[in-house]
Amino acid sequence: MTILLTGAAGFIGSHVTEGLLQRGYTVIGLDNLDDQYDPALKRRNVRLFQDQPTYQFLRGDIRDQSVVEAILQQYDCDTVIHLAAQTGVRPSVQNPALYFDVNVTGTLSLLEAMRKTGVRRLVMASSSSVYGDSERVPFREDDRADRPLSPYAASKRSAELLTHTYHHLYGFDVACLRFFTVYGPRLRPNMAISQFTERILNRLPITLYGDGSTVREYTYIDDTVTGISNVLNTLHGFDILNIGGFETVSLLKLVQLIEQATGEQALIDWQPMQPGDVRQTSADLNHAYAYAGYAPSVRIEEGIPRFVSWYKQAVAQLPLG
Ligand SMILES: NC(=O)c1ccc[n+]([C@@H]2O[C@H](COP(=O)([O-])OP(=O)(O)OC[C@H]3O[C@@H](n4cnc5c(N)ncnc54)[C@H](O)[C@@H]3O)[C@@H](O)[C@H]2O)c1
Repeated sequence: MTILLTGAAGFIGSHVTEGLLQRGYTVIGLDNLDDQYDPALKRRNVRLFQDQPTYQFLRGDIRDQSVVEAILQQYDCDTVIHLAAQTGVRPSVQNPALYFDVNVTGTLSLLEAMRKTGVRRLVMASSSSVYGDSERVPFREDDRADRPLSPYAASKRSAELLTHTYHHLYGFDVACLRFFTVYGPRLRPNMAISQFTERILNRLPITLYGDGSTVREYTYIDDTVTGISNVLNTLHGFDILNIGGFETVSLLKLVQLIEQATGEQALIDWQPMQPGDVRQTSADLNHAYAYAGYAPSVRIEEGIPRFVSWYKQAVAQLPLG
């Protein structure tokens, strides 16, 4: 099976590449290596796999529909895993148009390219942020997701809606996967776990928003890859699945785990909650289990030390900030 993987050079994309190659797939990676964070990190991710005969990396933009069409045809792809996006809640508040251009118009361009070339299987990255400040916890896929709190969340929900239209009109098989704060080696340097680790190791203050009681469901990257790969085997019709982690953790507990793993104490600069942030994320995983046998296995007590030890090695090779 040949898969077009958009966003292949990014954090999750690099792990999905690795997981798919190990499982015997041919992977065509597409990424524009944008500068949302240092593109040198993305080039380093791509280099990890460049010698593998069943991997081809192409630099390009999902918004160039004719380019995507040519790739789907030339490589005879039968499935698309769509991870390319403008990511992050807070920067989307500053630059909503870019988020809609890439995450909504870009997804539409990809869907059109698939329609024109007869590719009908799509697994797409969505986000827990689409639930907004949902009252019912844990979040279930049939909860209302029509009160997004940030342009990022609104763009991800809009992309989900578009994929449903292509399922309805053209019979696409689609799974929209709502990821819950994914972390692990090669994490984006602009994510909280990366920044806390960097600053705590360097004995610099970290900024915590709110009072530390906000809660997140953190998912170790290996579990996310397992989720995606399981879904590839059972993909049918249209569905939305929570691909979450083992447990939820408060912000303060997260910082304590990083302190333990680094052996350093955090200096904390407290600030008010940020616009667009949600108070809590938590995934009900029953549907993902029923659909694809998905069950996460990595506890945060294991995952954070694994991340910190990767970080220390990686930072010795290339600055991550
Ligand atoms: N990491 C998380 O915690 C998390 C949580 C929820 C959802 N997601 C979603 O998972 C996906 C992957 O996230 P990530 O954490 O690996 O982020 P990432 O930024 O590391 O990866 C995204 C990649 O997409 C590429 N890209 C951006 N615009 C593009 C375009 N127009 N054309 C081609 N490539 C483009 C970027 O260069 C980048 O390499 C995203 O869709 C994100 O919204 C991630």
